[in-house]
Amino acid sequence: MRAVVQDRYGNADALHFADVAVPTPGPGEVLLAVHAAGLNRGTWHLMTGLPYVMRLMGFGLRRPAQRIPGADVAGRIIALGEGVDDFTVGDEVLGIAVGAFAPYAIARADNLVQRPAQLPAEKAAAVAISGITAYQAVHEQGQVTAGQRVLVLGASGGVGAWVTQLAHAAGAHVTGVASAAKADLVLELGADQVLDYATTEPTAGTDRYDVIIDMGGRRPLRKLRRILTKNGTLVIVGGEGGGPIGGGFGRQLLAAALSNVVSQRLTMVMAAEHRDALAPVVAAITEGTITPAVSSVYSLDSVAEAMTDLVGGRVRGAAVLRIGDGS
Ligand SMILES: NC(=O)c1ccc[n+]([C@@H]2O[C@H](COP(=O)([O-])OP(=O)(O)OC[C@H]3O[C@@H](n4cnc5c(N)ncnc54)[C@H](OP(=O)(O)O)[C@@H]3O)[C@@H](O)[C@H]2O)c1
Repeated sequence: MRAVVQDRYGNADALHFADVAVPTPGPGEVLLAVHAAGLNRGTWHLMTGLPYVMRLMGFGLRRPAQRIPGADVAGRIIALGEGVDDFTVGDEVLGIAVGAFAPYAIARADNLVQRPAQLPAEKAAAVAISGITAYQAVHEQGQVTAGQRVLVLGASGGVGAWVTQLAHAAGAHVTGVASAAKADLVLELGADQVLDYATTEPTAGTDRYDVIIDMGGRRPLRKLRRILTKNGTLVIVGGEGGGPIGGGFGRQLLAAALSNVVSQRLTMVMAAEHRDALAPVVAAITEGTITPAVSSVYSLDSVAEAMTDLVGGRVRGAAVLRIGDGS
């Protein structure tokens, strides 16, 4: 099969095409005919090998350990590995695969769920990692409830688009922070108001929030704590620009330590990759409470352009690669 591969870390020009063997599913795995694959910041981190600490976590010291990129997936099961008895060949699924930027990819069966019939593959491919992360941020760490004031930093991004919808669906008053060009999207997703981070610094105002969910801007903890209510909750999901070595993860560690000695809850999210975490996201999609905010669909041949657009902030919500016929 002709797949996207990367034999070194780098920018989008590190991605090229090669003929590789169609993989064989091992125990607990399935082989998917890939319809569409999602792009997200995680794919970009794995492409660049940044921050360096990631390389020590098993992703490959000098080059990516996984040669074919891509994790978020929608596809059809075409072969079952040993011990897989909860799917059958022909099932249409979504979830997390290994090497999804290819016509065929392997996935652990317990990282997949059935794709709802009304959800096109190109939208389904944007659900898993960002959706799980957002659900954990809003419901498990943030414990957002009706009537609370919630600040979403990075409301127009891959994770933030879900966070905004989930917080709105929970009945919160949502303030989204994004670029002016994407303010309309954030309002459509359910935010009550939008702040343009280029002209309005959200931590400089007099508004106070019960919950802050942070995906963008990497503001210092002291500034975020200042606009949290006395018993408010800060959920750090991530943020770019934290430096090449640790990626600014020290902010999360400091938050965890401080949380023990202050009245506010300062927490972070590490997205769980499992169908149990995916199930409530897909249930909310099926109920019509939330929907994937996919604005950009690229061909597999345009993968470098797609990655460049993603990191350049030109994607509204999420972007996916169309790979096979799955709509
Ligand atoms: N903890 C986890 O398990 C986990 C899981 C997934 C992702 N992450 C991390 O979470 C972060 C967000 O991921 P993503 O996929 O949502 O990225 P994304 O799609 O690139 O979105 C980034 C968001 O941040 C906004 N932003 C940029 N500068 C900002 C500023 N100064 N103030 C406020 N907002 C600003 C962007 O707004 P505009 O686009 O409108 O400019 C956009 O809404 C990344 O660092 C990613 O690595 C962590």
